[in-house]
Amino acid sequence: MGHAWVSQQAVISDVFTSVTSISFKAAAAKPGERVVDIGCGTGDTLLDFAKVVGPSGAALGVDISVPMLGFARHRAAEAGYSNVSCALADATTYGFEPRWADLVYSRFGVMFFDDPVKAFTNIRSGMKPGGRLVLVCFRTMAESPWFRVPIEAARPHLPAQPPADPLAPGMFSFAREERVRGILSDAGFREMALKAVDVPMHGKDIAQSMAFITQAGPLPAILENGSEEQRTRATEAVREALAANIGADGRGLHAGLWLVSALT
Ligand SMILES: C[S@@+](CC[C@H](N)C(=O)[O-])C[C@H]1O[C@@H](n2cnc3c(N)ncnc32)[C@H](O)[C@@H]1O
Repeated sequence: MGHAWVSQQAVISDVFTSVTSISFKAAAAKPGERVVDIGCGTGDTLLDFAKVVGPSGAALGVDISVPMLGFARHRAAEAGYSNVSCALADATTYGFEPRWADLVYSRFGVMFFDDPVKAFTNIRSGMKPGGRLVLVCFRTMAESPWFRVPIEAARPHLPAQPPADPLAPGMFSFAREERVRGILSDAGFREMALKAVDVPMHGKDIAQSMAFITQAGPLPAILENGSEEQRTRATEAVREALAANIGADGRGLHAGLWLVSALT
């Protein structure tokens, strides 16, 4: 999905406005700090951190997607940030400089690890003693009407599919609080806190919301299973469902998230 995330970067950034502001407040990055952004994607939050930490600090983005990280690099160069570096790597095995980071942050970039305990153990090795971890990840699909409503609208028009394994790597794999606590604790983190937050998600209008929902999140994989005709009918049903649930200002549906924090 890397190419879709690159082409839709501005829309995705708009839809995530509230997520970014809530998680940035929790991250509380300061000038001079060193920040790692795990699964930084196209660099939205990486560039925001570069601005906050300033020239005396540093922002490192780690991502496995060639197109997304390439775009992040391009944006950092265009903005003239000399304190940004990007590592094309799996965060599970990347050779982090030991005890380097004051803060490790991720906006939806940590739910895809094959071995989450190994990944977080590796990430922790690159953090200073007392370093902060701040993550946002999704709770269950049932708690996220922003994703659930379009899927419920599309399903009757598409072939039936077996239910997904909730623990398999994927966007809802961090939905269960005990699982997240277990992973972080096994990786050596302490003082974990998980706060449930319901965050509005919407584009500027229905067209933007449709651009997001049909190209990011769980719907694209489900649409793929249909014939062209089925996809057209499903997409129309999604548009109607969004129009029925979203007000003229674009607002109306939220996503249920965990705002996770921990210390090394
Ligand atoms: C849902 S996207 C979020 C991107 C970005 N954080 C944002 O909010 O725009 C998930 C990102 O995690 C990256 N990713 C997935 N598995 C990874 C891994 N093992 N190591 C590093 N990055 C990973 C993907 O390439 C993708 O960019």
